This record gives sequence, C-alpha cells and structure tokens, in this order.
Amino acid sequence: MSAPSKNQLSRRDFIKAALAGIGGLIGALVGLPSVAYLLSPVWQAGAEDDAVVSLGALDNYPIGIPTRFDFTRTRVNGWERTAVSYGLYVVRKSESEVRVFSDICTHLGCRVTWHPDIQHYISPCHDGHFDLLGKNISGPPPRPLDEFVTKIENGNLIATLPPFKRTG
Ligand code: FES
Repeated sequence: MSAPSKNQLSRRDFIKAALAGIGGLIGALVGLPSVAYLLSPVWQAGAEDDAVVSLGALDNYPIGIPTRFDFTRTRVNGWERTAVSYGLYVVRKSESEVRVFSDICTHLGCRVTWHPDIQHYISPCHDGHFDLLGKNISGPPPRPLDEFVTKIENGNLIATLPPFKRTG
C-alpha cells in the first residue's frame, strides 16, 4: 500500500471529515428547532391582545339599571403573560341606547360599586361618588368614570378596549 500523495485525502482524514459533517448535521437537526421553539413567543408578541370583548346579548341588560360585567384578558408579550381583570357597568338607557363605564375610580383607582338605594357608584377608598352615567358628583375623583366605545352587532353588545378618559 502506497502513502497518499499531497493532493489525496488519507483514509483517516476522510473519516474525520465525514464524522465532522455528520456531527454538524445532527447538531443542526436538533438545535435549530430548539432555537425556533425558544424564540417563538417573541414572534407571537401581542397575538392574544384582542381589542374588543363581547358582553353578550343586549337583552340581558335591563333598562335603567347598571349591570356589572367582569372579565379577564391575557396579554402576551414574548415570554411575559399578563392577566388584566376588567370590571364594567352596562347602563342601558333605552331599547337601543347603551353606555358602558369602567369600574375604576378616577381618583386613585379603587373599584366603584353601584348602590341602588342612592343611585350612585361609590368608591370605597375615599368616598368618591358618581351618578348613574358616571359623572363625578362628590369626593376627590377629578373626572367622570372612563367609558368604553360600544357597538351592537346582531343583538350582541361589543365593547372596545381600553376605556377612554372622559373629562366632563
Ligand atoms: S380612589 Fe376613589 S375616591 Fe379615592
């Protein structure tokens, strides 16, 4: 058996190169899907952050009586998942006219509750009061309750998030 010339691969070099190639291929087959899996939340950021929420059939809400509706939305930002709970009051003024208010007090953010005996929303933290349509009427709240943009589709009430700030 003769020694390989300068331009020929030895059997040993060929096996080394083949093993390196096979090792690299196996590494790529295992590594690339793993990297893609780890990065996938970044590519899906905000995917669950819907801007609208269905409040159900409008007929479920009695006319003239604020009716509470609670729900939670999950916001996904990369690996971070944040659950935000919303509380709102649906005030149906007539068969087709409806307004929806946030239950977050505009003073320091406590949750207001409806008190039918005095027809006020009351913030328990500093005794802030709001009237039926969310206007601030006594206590420290500086402005009315925030309000959601709504629409009615096929008899269902839809609210757009987030609520907008009312100034008067
Ligand atoms: S937080 Fe509502 S009155 Fe202060």
